[in-house]
Amino acid sequence: MPIVRNHPAAYATVTLAATLALSGIAMSKPAPPSGAKLFAVHCSRCHGPGGRGDIGPDLRGTDLPVSDIKDTIKSGVPQEMPAFDAKLKSAQITALVRYVKALPAPKG
Ligand code: HEC
Repeated sequence: MPIVRNHPAAYATVTLAATLALSGIAMSKPAPPSGAKLFAVHCSRCHGPGGRGDIGPDLRGTDLPVSDIKDTIKSGVPQEMPAFDAKLKSAQITALVRYVKALPAPKG
């Protein structure tokens, strides 16, 4: 009977399933949102790539406190900038604030 020969195959199947289950657990850990990616998607059309300014102001090296940056992103500016509090999760807004605050001031 092939029972004995089937054992290694059955063992391999179980091992594979366990490996997939484990990697599934590892992959389900949510990655923190990327401020750079969020900025490119939601902000750069007005503030330019890397926040260098376009129809919206240059954000590099901003002196604005974190709380003001956060409020501006959440509430927007009437007639100028849309509000993002309904579009983005608070972790995404936090990532954007960190990204903007970390933009280096232009040299020169
Ligand atoms: C539709 C264009 C537009 C979009 C999209 C936009 N902004 Fe703005 N943003 C502006 C304009 C215009 C101003 C200047 C408003 C004013 O006159 O005070 C501004 C102001 C700001 C300010 C205050 C700057 C300062 O020095 O006073 C911050 C910070 C800011 N935006 C961040 C962001 C971030 C982060 C995003 C993406 C989540 C974003 N903006 C998306 C147009 C935009």
